[in-house]
Amino acid sequence: MNPASDLASALASTLSSSPAVDAPSSPRIDDLLARMTLAEKIGQLGQVQPQGRSHEAAVRDGAVGSLINVIGEDARHYQRLAVEESRLGIPLLFGRDVIHGFRTVFPIPLAQAASFDPDLVREAAAAAAREAAAEGVNWTFSPMLDIARDPRWGRIAESFGEDPVLAAAMGAAMVEGYQQQGLAACAKHFVGYGAAEGGRDYAQAHIPERVLHDIYLPPFRAALEAGSLTLMTAFHDLDGVPLTGHRALVRGLLRERWGYQGLVVSDWNSVIEMIVHGCAEDEAEATRRALAASVDMEMASEAYAHTLVRLVEDGRVPLAQVDEAVRRVLHVKERLGLFDAAPGSASPAADAPVPDAAASQALARRLARDSLVLLHNDGVLPLPFDALSRVALIGPMADAAVDQLGCWVFDGDPARSTTVRQALVDRLGADRLLVAPGLPHPRSDDKSGIDDAVAAARAADVAVLCLGEDALLSGEAHSRAHLGLPGAQLALLEAVARTGRPTIVVVLSGRPLVLTDALPHAGALLQAWHPGSQTGPALVDVLGGQSPSGRLPVSLPRSVGQVPIHYNHHRTGRPPLDDAPSIPSGTPLDPSGFYSSYLDEDHRPLFPFGHGLHYGEVVYGDIEPASATVSRGQSLNFSLTLHNRGAHAVVETAQLYVRDVCASVTRPVRELKAFARVPLAPGERRQVTFRLHTDQLAFHGPDLAPVVEPGRHELWIGPDCTRGAHARFDVSA
Ligand code: GLC
Repeated sequence: MNPASDLASALASTLSSSPAVDAPSSPRIDDLLARMTLAEKIGQLGQVQPQGRSHEAAVRDGAVGSLINVIGEDARHYQRLAVEESRLGIPLLFGRDVIHGFRTVFPIPLAQAASFDPDLVREAAAAAAREAAAEGVNWTFSPMLDIARDPRWGRIAESFGEDPVLAAAMGAAMVEGYQQQGLAACAKHFVGYGAAEGGRDYAQAHIPERVLHDIYLPPFRAALEAGSLTLMTAFHDLDGVPLTGHRALVRGLLRERWGYQGLVVSDWNSVIEMIVHGCAEDEAEATRRALAASVDMEMASEAYAHTLVRLVEDGRVPLAQVDEAVRRVLHVKERLGLFDAAPGSASPAADAPVPDAAASQALARRLARDSLVLLHNDGVLPLPFDALSRVALIGPMADAAVDQLGCWVFDGDPARSTTVRQALVDRLGADRLLVAPGLPHPRSDDKSGIDDAVAAARAADVAVLCLGEDALLSGEAHSRAHLGLPGAQLALLEAVARTGRPTIVVVLSGRPLVLTDALPHAGALLQAWHPGSQTGPALVDVLGGQSPSGRLPVSLPRSVGQVPIHYNHHRTGRPPLDDAPSIPSGTPLDPSGFYSSYLDEDHRPLFPFGHGLHYGEVVYGDIEPASATVSRGQSLNFSLTLHNRGAHAVVETAQLYVRDVCASVTRPVRELKAFARVPLAPGERRQVTFRLHTDQLAFHGPDLAPVVEPGRHELWIGPDCTRGAHARFDVSA
């Protein structure tokens, strides 16, 4: 059995066309359910993390449905116990956070979004799945689909950024990549987790319902339409209701309106954390609320195991709620082929050919290269490596084999991690590379190494500075109130810049940082994120002439005071002026001078969503048609010609944005509707055509129902959210 073809074909969308409230059934599921005791049913609803072989008895007793963080021989051992020694032989799900790779580590998801290349992201997810499945994993807790508009939030690193269309495309691609290789995907964390107050992880989120439907829910809808077999509820409370007990959004919207019958799993301990939230008196109440919301499986904590028998016997939880949850758990196991796996195999996917490490590394290098975003370049790039006598490599992230991998890396193989230093030695030879970290580690204030860095820069033709964040500064529970370069990194950059040597600054971070003070000292500025195992080779490819193509999936703020900041904001009745108004003291109060501006900061980001430079010079022709009228339910094609007037081959990421000029509710000043990566040889002209369907203009109107309204629209096709060729169209009544 080829897991790829069999599972891929089996995985039609998990959203039914009509809201199917009935839980899944099959002859096997129906038979098992009829034979299961209440205790065995409840066992299927628990996912626990064993310590070594601590849960052998529980597995033999059928008291566990899934194990988390168990791989390799332990996974095979527990699967044999479940299948061969438990009464009903129901196989286990083995869950693991395969977030951006397994042994080979790909760029963090925020970086992958910067590639604007869903096809490549799908390939990477498939490669990660093959590596993970070979070691017994059959369920990954990925993709993370949370829209993130606040870079203080550490988990922005795991997100696909601020835009719902980009996040939806990336999330669906990851789901397909994982599940084609036999790993169940998990759309998480449902929903609105990235809107945590103050950017502090787990904090309450307040999201107006229209914003919830127009911005935060679409990526989940796309992932479920792509067939995600599972979904995870989020930790936080949304306007007072923890998502793990959110009956309206999980049972009401997800199950009854969307018809989703996949497995919903809680987050780690999030069932019992409803007690801490202060909306469940005890484990029994937490269990009752979670099941009422149709959370099928409890992760880590054991409130279900402790209280469900009594709750069902007392009639406080209907047996039907338990049965429907068990059906959804068994359905995932059946769809993964676990009941038909070879004896002792954690899943059929585990029996696929061992993944080719070199191929995964080549893919990681390509995705890392395509995720790099060139923010600024005064012409210092690309570097003529062969003409340089010496290069100074400076900074605490220049040789960071672990930190360059980023957050959520449990299984990354350090031996597969190639740093910038190693890659430059390979490219230039050690004798042409002067290495000076400048600081002992990224957060250090110890400036004693800066003199050596300055000396290295003086002795070289060019200085490459690798700055940024160590991996622990982003990810879960790692939010920051300040977004500048950590430690004394700015002082290091300023000292090197004072040498007058051409200076290339590479920022390796898990989030957008405030680079306002660094920018003036950089001849070139690259946002590299945490690029993973192939950081070094990918960066050397770009520095040496392979044109970068990454685009920002998030706005880069000028200061943390602007946060939350996002491109698809609303216009207001007094749109901000482009330059901060000057109000010297003593200025008479003049109501005519009131705008939605800051007195002390430009309201615009330092670099906007969609921004990214390359080594070419691409000109956008006029859009055809320049104006048009379309009826609701119809499509329009918009075309233009891209011309690369530069001397380098490039990939131009053309982006199509729309503005609904006047509607029944206020609408964003711009919304991304489509994008395309367009390869262009030097001098090449290429026509690009986007098909826009009026359904893509839908939003939730005054009554919160989805609507496409007639009226004027503006459209841009350009290199980022602030500029491009312009056209107009009307949607007719
Ligand atoms: C964590 C995270 C979630 C992860 C889960 C299992 O707390 O919130 O994203 O998948 O627990 O590790």
